[in-house]
Amino acid sequence: MGQAAAAAMIPGLALLWAAVLGGAAPSPPRLRLSFQELQAQHGLRTFRLERTCCYEALLVDEERGRLFVGAENRVASLSLDDISKRAKKLAWPAPVEWREECNWAGKDIGTECMNFVKLLHAYNRTHLLACGTGAFHPTCAFVEVGHRLEEPTLRLDLRRLEDGKGKSPYDPRHRAASVLVGKELYSGVAADLMGRDFTIFRSLGQRPSLRTEPHDSRWLNEPKFVKVFWIPESENPDDDKIYFFFRESAVEASPSLGRQTVSRVGQICRNDVGGQRSLVNKWTTFLKARLVCSVPGVEGDTHFDHLQDMFLLSLRDRWSPLLYAVFSTSSTIFQGSAVCVYSMNDVRRAFLGPFAHKEGPMHQWVSYQGRVPYPRPGMCPSKTFGTFSSTKDFPDDVIQFARNHPLMYNSVLPMGGRPLFIQVDAGYTFTQITADRVAAADGHYDVLFIGTDAGTVLKVISVPKGSQPNGEGLLLEELHVFEDSSAITSMQISSKRHQLYIASRSAVAQIPLHLCAAHGRACAECCLARDPYCAWDGAACTRFQPSAKRRFRRQDVRNGDPSTLCSGDSSHPALLERKVFGVEGGSAFLECEPRSLQARVEWTFQRAGEATHTQTTGPSAPNLQRYTCESPLPAHAWPPLTLYLSWPDLGAGFPCS
Ligand SMILES: *[C@@H]1O[C@H](CO)[C@@H](O)[C@H](O)[C@H]1NC(C)=O
Repeated sequence: MGQAAAAAMIPGLALLWAAVLGGAAPSPPRLRLSFQELQAQHGLRTFRLERTCCYEALLVDEERGRLFVGAENRVASLSLDDISKRAKKLAWPAPVEWREECNWAGKDIGTECMNFVKLLHAYNRTHLLACGTGAFHPTCAFVEVGHRLEEPTLRLDLRRLEDGKGKSPYDPRHRAASVLVGKELYSGVAADLMGRDFTIFRSLGQRPSLRTEPHDSRWLNEPKFVKVFWIPESENPDDDKIYFFFRESAVEASPSLGRQTVSRVGQICRNDVGGQRSLVNKWTTFLKARLVCSVPGVEGDTHFDHLQDMFLLSLRDRWSPLLYAVFSTSSTIFQGSAVCVYSMNDVRRAFLGPFAHKEGPMHQWVSYQGRVPYPRPGMCPSKTFGTFSSTKDFPDDVIQFARNHPLMYNSVLPMGGRPLFIQVDAGYTFTQITADRVAAADGHYDVLFIGTDAGTVLKVISVPKGSQPNGEGLLLEELHVFEDSSAITSMQISSKRHQLYIASRSAVAQIPLHLCAAHGRACAECCLARDPYCAWDGAACTRFQPSAKRRFRRQDVRNGDPSTLCSGDSSHPALLERKVFGVEGGSAFLECEPRSLQARVEWTFQRAGEATHTQTTGPSAPNLQRYTCESPLPAHAWPPLTLYLSWPDLGAGFPCS
């Protein structure tokens, strides 16, 4: 029985069957734009420093209009309007002694024994908190950025450094995951040189530091932290929780399956101050649950188990944000990535469900059936749910239970029960995600920007499909925002300025969220693009403003059907037929280059007194046709040829301009 229960909790890796993912071919974007095109025509800007790598920490400051950047031995302050202009930089190298120690510990002096700035948070009205690896000697500093309306300032007092242990990773290859709440930093990080003591840590502020139980694989088992968010639970701040997103080795996996990585969501209460007699200065409210992102299939589910990044999309109801996550597979058989969306209600439900329990070393993990002590572990001490005012007042049985049962039995499933968007064997994997909720003519759409390990950004929209609440993802654009193809390490949006900022090992890039002009010069092309940022304004494809008069704004994100929206628009160029004249026996080349990679070109022509002939070329074929004028045709002319573009998934077509 035990074996079956464990197997049900963690199924082995299922092979990916074509039937599961419907052909399993990577979907092409509607539009692919090269670095050169983006730079020349679409407002791409780039920032890089001499002899500096590893841009990783990005912080958007809308009020000051600055983008703060952390990199190797550097902090920079850039203008949000144009990152390539008026940059302020400061050097923050690791001291020579630390670099030597780092080198003696066997690390590479040139690539590892540097100060890689990993973390930037807005600390107060005048200062940022910055932390870096400090040549395997984590260190933090307060960076003075001045008051909001002053000239941009960037100053660092190297004599006033703070200990960065438990805040920044030691190893430049590790990521920092943290959130600053008030004056307190919550971080998920390895807190030792060897990278073995992983901890969820609260530091700075007035209260004593708090951490997870050290070296207890039930709490954390070689985790890789991804993101940390502060999410309120009710109007009462005593119920506030901090959520940690990470991946780790599954303790609950059957040993026969070997090491298995799973993704997790962990929670702690903001007002946790540790236990009184046991779990002193340790979390008493820590719980974790598995985060599943998989495609159901007849032969077993296909799991995307490696959480790579998570974005919290705040909605009007501030305790129920949406969580957009990117995952990759751990499979050696195929390379796949997926986007899954989670609701906070589903996360909370898992923490209110049964606890996972293991009776002893020879037993299997099961759902705990015994009595759960009161107050239920994971609940914050607050007036909302009980009478306890501090975790130090929790009864001993609560503390003991919490210590032994950090794992929940139920997993958190994605909305709709499956990924929103999948890309398989595309030659890249997803590394980063950020999202923007956009008001369009026919409702709200979530636009996702997905960074890849090939230096590209994918723009995906979530469109409703049938009754599914979160619908399906549609790949609109593939943007080559960097000259090289190093992995994207961080992305931030400025909604005020409508810009996306992207960091990689080699540079920082900036691109507008909307690239409407790239969709083409016809109403139908603009409409078929299905970009909620763009609409046809009667003369061009431009940024959609929800406030503008409706009849001047043509947009159909849901269906992308131009036949009704763009008909009767005789003024626009796409409806002009092209007449091509020739002589008998002569020939002519005709060219039709649709902007969309998903477009199919159909060539039709009609001879006097005959039915229409249609000839089709696929999307991969060059959209060039040679027409030879054969007899018997009137010597003076060919009949006019009309070239049609159509999208197979829509059945809609329009003439090629
Ligand atoms: C912000 O914090 C820094 C570092 O603790 C401190 O020196 C500075 O005075 C603070 N500024 C304000 C406006 O509180």
